[in-house]
Amino acid sequence: MVTVWMGSANRDETQFDRPDEFVVDRNPNPHLSFGNGIHFCLGAPLARLESKIVLSAVLERLPNLRIDPNATLEFIPSTGVYGIKSLPVLL
Ligand code: HEM
Repeated sequence: MVTVWMGSANRDETQFDRPDEFVVDRNPNPHLSFGNGIHFCLGAPLARLESKIVLSAVLERLPNLRIDPNATLEFIPSTGVYGIKSLPVLL
């Protein structure tokens, strides 16, 4: 079985400038989060549209939204899904 390590692929320094930074307007952005090739995610356009709508709405309604600088982040113990369990924010 072959497992893709997405967290590493999407931080490939041969593909991305500043690979460890979240650059929201990165362009081009050859990430592999939606897969690649024949099985590329069929829902990618829907996921992108929904993300755009929800992020715009949240930022419009909560203009002071920011990450709590005192938060202690706990990572999900998984090689498949990279992320944190929760992201405490301040309003
Ligand atoms: C942020 C949200 C999403 C992410 C990160 C994501 C990620 C992925 C990835 C990595 C694959 C490729 C799997 C592989 O190569 O075996 C995939 C396939 C697929 N995704 Fe998504 N997906 C998302 C949302 C959605 C949504 C909203 C739908 C449907 C409404 C969807 C439907 C599918 C389908 C049907 C496939 C299989 C395509 C195929 O095998 O030809 N996905 N997705």
